[in-house]
This record gives sequence, C-alpha cells and structure tokens, in this order.
Amino acid sequence: MHSYSLLAAAKINLYLEVVGDRPDGYHELVMVMQSIGLADRLTIRSLNSADIRLQCDHPQVPGDASNLAHRAAALLQNRFPQAMKQHGGVEITIQKNIPVGAGLAGGSADAAAVLVGVDMLWQLGLTQIELQTLGAELGSDVPFCISGGTAIATGRGEQIDSLQGIEQFYVVLAKYSSLTISTPWAYQAYRRAFAATYVDVNTAGQTRREALHSGPMVAAIYHQDGPDIGHHLHNDLEKVVLTQHAQVQALKDAMAASGGLGTLMSGSGPTVFTLAATRTEAEAIAAQVRSQLSDPDLELWVAPFVSTSVQFSP
Ligand code: C5P
Repeated sequence: MHSYSLLAAAKINLYLEVVGDRPDGYHELVMVMQSIGLADRLTIRSLNSADIRLQCDHPQVPGDASNLAHRAAALLQNRFPQAMKQHGGVEITIQKNIPVGAGLAGGSADAAAVLVGVDMLWQLGLTQIELQTLGAELGSDVPFCISGGTAIATGRGEQIDSLQGIEQFYVVLAKYSSLTISTPWAYQAYRRAFAATYVDVNTAGQTRREALHSGPMVAAIYHQDGPDIGHHLHNDLEKVVLTQHAQVQALKDAMAASGGLGTLMSGSGPTVFTLAATRTEAEAIAAQVRSQLSDPDLELWVAPFVSTSVQFSP
C-alpha cells in the first residue's frame, strides 16, 4: 500500500483547569477531552523523491514546513532516516473541515494522523505510546489526538488517561468564522490576570489531578449521566476569552438559553459548544441559535461524540 486516507477528529474540552506554572514555561493543566465527529480528511502518499510535500485546501493553513502536519512527517524523517530512504518521501493532502484557530485542536489532529499514517506507510511498527511520545514533541494536544475518545489529560496536556466512552451524546458547535484565538495569547492573558491563584505544581499538582479523577465530572462520565456532565462543564480560559470578546460571551449566552445539557467554550476558544442528549435535540438548538443571532459570520455544526481520533478510511 503506497497511500492511506485518514480521518482526523476534532476535540472539545469538557473540563479545563489551569493549575499553575511549569518549569518548562507551559501551564500545568487538568482536563477532560472528548473526540467529536467533525474531522479533517488526510491522504498520505509515498513519493519517489526524499521530499515532504503538503497541500491544504484552506487559505489560512500554511503549506510549508511551519505546518504541524509537515513537522510531524519531518520528525519521523529525522528519527527514521533509513525508513525514508527505503520507502521514499511523503505527500500529505489535507481537506480541512475543522475550523482553524478554534480551540478544537484541528492542527494537532492533522499532525496525529500524519504520525499514524506515516508509521503505516514506512512500516515502522510504533506502539500507541511511542506515537504519543513523538506527538508530545509537536504539541500538547497531539498525544490525545492519537488515542482520542474520552480521556483525562494532565501535565501540559500530554499525559493521557483514557476513560470509558460516552458516544451517545451530541454537541452543537458555534464559531464566528472571522474570529480566531491564538492559544499562546489565551494562556499569557490568563497568567497576567490569575498568576496569583497559581499553586505550586510540585506540591499541589498531584492533589489537583486526584481531585479530578475522584471528582464529579469523572463520576458523571462513569454514570453516562448527560445532565450531570453538562452541569460540571468547566473551562478556566473562559475567564479571559469571554471578558475580552463580548461577541463570544453573547454567543455562549444564546447557546445556553436554547436548551441542551450545558454550554462551554472549548480549549482557548472561541468555539462554544452545547451538549445535547440526541441528534434531534442538537439540531433544534442549532436552528434556534441560528435564527436568534442570524449573523452570516456565525457557523454552526452538529457532531456526535466519537471513540477514536484518527481513523483509516476507504
Ligand atoms: O503545546 P502547544 O504548542 O499546542 O501550545 C501552544 C501554546 O499554548 C504554548 O506555546 C503556550 O504558550 C500555551 N500552553 C501553555 N500550557 C499548556 C499548553 C499550551 O501555556 N499546557
């Protein structure tokens, strides 16, 4: 096989707590992540030359070596030079369906799919843990995007502890297409406003991780209790993004008022999601928000929770 087609799913954060500063300059986080059925489609093909080529149909996504998906292939080339000599270079084509700069880890999902696809193409035989360790070098969300499903993520986001799946639920996602948020900006703004609340990661980090593991969100997931999951949705980064972007706060208010089990901003935003018990309920919420806000810049999606992030596809 010289070509693979893969789907790379977006994620939402059901829970995101900023614990404190890490010695490596990142933030120590305690999160619950969920893969959703809104996915980019990637094709990964062997080349006769020793090149890495990337094409993407989205105008805001760079096709050069700065793209995380390109960097994923370059990382494997660097670690396994013999494999590239034997199997040739790679051409990556990305059909972008996940919005960019949205807090949905679209770039990380693409990078994860490239690691998985090139591992197959070059017959490297890497384990999931080996792929996640490589993924952590590319970005904090990449390890989760390798395994996907429902998981607790700690450390800077790269320590993954899978939970039992909750694929019966749906989300309505909403984002103003002209608004993107830079993740570094969101974390820097959070540090400027809330550094005084940071705890010492060495002494209290473990306590916060244990509190999430034995806390109400994880219990609600174990009980597959939609209303309880909705009730315990939490994202610390809302405190900076919603105060800086009144439009996103208004969107969250409209989503929360239209029914559903709970509403939250995902990651560093600006996508806002509402959890729904059924597809019919999710579609009714999407229709209500669309008619209430009637803004041509507002994009809405309905997606199910899914159990994997990267999937081979025919
Ligand atoms: O790991 P990734 O490259 O996706 O992170 C992007 C930026 O987000 C980092 O450069 C940092 O500014 C911020 N970040 C953070 N703490 C984390 C994850 C990300 O401060 N745990």
